[in-house]
Amino acid sequence: MTDQTVVVSNLRDTPHFFDAVADRIWRAWWEQQGFPLSHITCLLQDSLTEDAESLCLVAHDGDRFVGTASVIASDLEERPDLTPWVAAVWVDPPFRGTGIGGDIVLRAARAALDAGAEAVHLCALPGKRAFYERLGWRLDEKDVGEDRLDVFSMRRT
Ligand SMILES: CC(C)(COP(=O)(O)OP(=O)(O)OC[C@H]1O[C@@H](n2cnc3c(N)ncnc32)[C@H](O)[C@@H]1OP(=O)(O)O)[C@@H](O)C(=O)NCCC(=O)NCCS
Repeated sequence: MTDQTVVVSNLRDTPHFFDAVADRIWRAWWEQQGFPLSHITCLLQDSLTEDAESLCLVAHDGDRFVGTASVIASDLEERPDLTPWVAAVWVDPPFRGTGIGGDIVLRAARAALDAGAEAVHLCALPGKRAFYERLGWRLDEKDVGEDRLDVFSMRRT
């Protein structure tokens, strides 16, 4: 990460960022589909539980929210057999392009692998292929589902 004042914390240790994380995830992926914010707050509550499979990381500069990425058990209806996934990767626009997104994605992947997963998965629109491949994600599938998503994986080395 280029900006040394930005650090990454587990949301469990920084619960005051809960509302900011829920807000960004909801606005980016759920609001337009008609889901209420409460749908996301319920899902996000899981990542606050110590023994849950899910994890939420927050990048922040002091008390200012910068970005987030999560590890969740399932993310793609068409691939119910794959788990876990890195999902909900978001960096606030003023902080983009300085390596924060790449850093938080890799930290989330490492957390999933360190927790015992043989592989961790990620799905994204094809427009983000270069971003993820540059970070070392392996492109396993293209054109999955209605949104024609790429499916990537990262394995333990
Ligand atoms: C994708 C996102 C998380 C990247 O965050 P970031 O902090 O800018 O990421 P980084 O700084 O680590 O990487 C930026 C680099 O990747 C490139 N990049 C960023 N988004 C890209 C994209 N969609 N496709 C290809 N390359 C991309 C940039 O050109 C930049 O390249 P450079 O370093 O050569 O200039 C951020 O743009 C974002 O929040 N987007 C909206 C939400 C989103 O699309 N999330 C991903 C869902 S799969």
